[in-house]
Amino acid sequence: MYKQYLAEREQKHVVESEHGFAIYRFTDKWCYICDIYVTQEARIKHEASRLADSVAEIALNAGYKRLLGSVDTRDAGASISLIAQLKYGFKVLYNDGQVIYLEKILKPD
Ligand SMILES: CC(C)(COP(=O)(O)OP(=O)(O)OC[C@H]1O[C@@H](n2cnc3c(N)ncnc32)[C@H](O)[C@@H]1OP(=O)(O)O)[C@@H](O)C(=O)NCCC(=O)NCCS
Repeated sequence: MYKQYLAEREQKHVVESEHGFAIYRFTDKWCYICDIYVTQEARIKHEASRLADSVAEIALNAGYKRLLGSVDTRDAGASISLIAQLKYGFKVLYNDGQVIYLEKILKPD
């Protein structure tokens, strides 16, 4: 039911696995991965990367060529989130106050 709420009220969608989930939404130019979470026991085993791959496939099928990610510098896990995104292939795009936005190009224009 929460997935239905996210889709109807916030135009957000979810991919999930046994060990985690990613929440994404489409903007004008990007498929934005707003949230991604992996259980503590499953971390650093490429679970988040697999979830992001699933979102990337959905994005490409929907005609989107770029993923957007973000790191809120106020979040206690900001450094790990930044490392994981950079290692996955995101590049820093811009910052907006305390939030750093990153982009991964899936397909060149
Ligand atoms: C951030 C998070 C989603 C990463 O999930 P994960 O499944 O551990 O990530 P992956 O295993 O796919 O990691 C991708 C890369 O980052 C590296 N990495 C991930 N966590 C790391 C850590 N703590 N230290 C060093 N490197 C790390 C991985 O080794 C991998 O690099 P590689 O491809 O060179 O091997 C997870 O730590 C998490 O759920 N944190 C709490 C929620 C959160 O902060 N979400 C992000 C903001 S919404």
